[in-house]
Formats: sequence, structure tokens, C-alpha cells
Amino acid sequence: MRNLDQYNITQAVIARFAQTPDPRLKEIMTSLVQHLHAFAREVKLTEAEWMQGIEFLTATGQKCDDKRQEFILLSDTLGLSMLTVAMNNDKPAGCTEATVFGPFHVEGAPHIELGGDVAQGAKGQPCEVRGTVRGLDGAPVPHAHIEVWQADAEGKYDVQRADCDAAQARGVLQADAQGRYHFSSILAEAYPIPDDGPVGDMLKATKRHPWRPAHLHFLIKAPGYQTLITHVFRNGDQYLDSDAVFGVRESLIADWLPQADGRYLVEFDFVLNPAR
Ligand code: BEZ
Ligand code: FE
Repeated sequence: MRNLDQYNITQAVIARFAQTPDPRLKEIMTSLVQHLHAFAREVKLTEAEWMQGIEFLTATGQKCDDKRQEFILLSDTLGLSMLTVAMNNDKPAGCTEATVFGPFHVEGAPHIELGGDVAQGAKGQPCEVRGTVRGLDGAPVPHAHIEVWQADAEGKYDVQRADCDAAQARGVLQADAQGRYHFSSILAEAYPIPDDGPVGDMLKATKRHPWRPAHLHFLIKAPGYQTLITHVFRNGDQYLDSDAVFGVRESLIADWLPQADGRYLVEFDFVLNPAR
């Protein structure tokens, strides 16, 4: 096919994928070409803008390493991560809602006994966290596997600190036979997502802030239930309505209550969705 013009090139490109054996790959490539071309037409993309886009994506890839995933950050800040989570986690009413995973989960975090200290030296105001893991029927889920991770008082995860090779403010716990869990940690504080790369440049150029409201991350697994990846957000945080990655759900907001001994307490019960 020769002499393709701006009116017939989209169909010509789509036709080139006609022999794709995997039907799902064919569907995705066809739709990608359709939407990508429609986008270029809609904004009347100039050649200089096309090159700027290429340079932006190149810089995004170059910023990635084993600790930094700038493409996930891009997906997060464009709302694509949360859209994907929302479309794939449409749980029955009553189940704890899912939200974005984020880039700071670490496999193999230390095991912490129930009641133990997850902070492990991370700076912050002391805090107790407790609750119960249940199924949709209200019955406790015994011995659920619970992973928790959070930023410290300066808004940094341990993996963001060049001077820290020990795990801090993260751990793996096992709920008891009645589904109960509790641990000590530090008060969750709002923090900016990493904004010293191309995604940060995009946020600055569009007058967007990089802040996430204070939260704890949880990953909860138990046999017979779908794995839950979620956060608990701190009520009253100024960024609850403008989270840089669009992850806030009303049902995930909890009160961190100051106690007489100067510690904070947050209680949150999780409800797991039975596996299909
Ligand atoms: C986080 O909550 O850890 C996070 C999520 C998305 C982007 C950056 C950080
Ligand atoms: Fe986080």
C-alpha cells in the first residue's frame, strides 16, 4: 500500500495487525492504534510536539532503575493505575476497596510478631494500629497474611534513603485465629511522590502538586479470598481531595486518635472478597 494520507493511514496500520494469532493482542493493538491516531488528530500534533513526546518518554525510561519506576509514576499521575485498579476490583458492597499499589512495596519484608514494632527505627510519632480481618459474611478470617509499609516523618520510604539498607516502617504480620492484628508504627504523614524526574517536570509544567495524603499501605492475603491491595488514609489530611495519584476512597479514611500516653491509635477492619 502506497501514498497513504492522513485520512486512510489508520485503517492501513490496523490491517497490518490482521494476522495476529493472539486475539487479545490483536484487540489491544487495534484499539491502541485507533486511539493514538485519534489523539494526534484531535490535538493536531505538530512534528515538534511529537519529538517532545519522544524525548519525554525516553527520559522517563532513562530514569528507571531497580529502585525507581518512572513509568509507573507516569501511569499513576495520569490516573491510569487507579482506572485499572477500579476496573479490575469491582467488589461486592461491604468489601474493603482496593487502591493503587505504588512503587515502594518490597518482597521479603521482615516478619513482625503481633504487637511488635514495624517502625524498626524509622523517625516519627509513635502510633498503634489494630483491627480485624473478616469475610463478607462478617466471620473473622483466621491467620491472614498482612503486609504493611509506610513513609517516615520526613515522607520517605526506607528504599528511598541511600543511607538505609535495613527494612524500616514495613513488615509482614499474621493475624491471630480470630482475625485480629495489631502493631506499633509511626504516624502516617503526607508526602510528595518523587518529582525530580520527567514526571515531576510534567507536574510542574501543568501546575499540579506532587503530594499524597498520609496513608498506610496494606497487602492482605488469605486462602479462599482475593488478595487485597489497599491503603488506610488519615482523616483530616489536606490532600485527601487532591491526591497526586487519584487513590483516595472515602471508605478507606480512618481517624488517627491521639491517646493519653502521647501515642496515636488507628483502628481499621478489613473485609476480604471470597475468591471466585
Ligand atoms: C505510594 O503511595 O507509595 C505511591 C503511590 C504512587 C506513586 C508514588 C508513591
Ligand atoms: Fe505510599
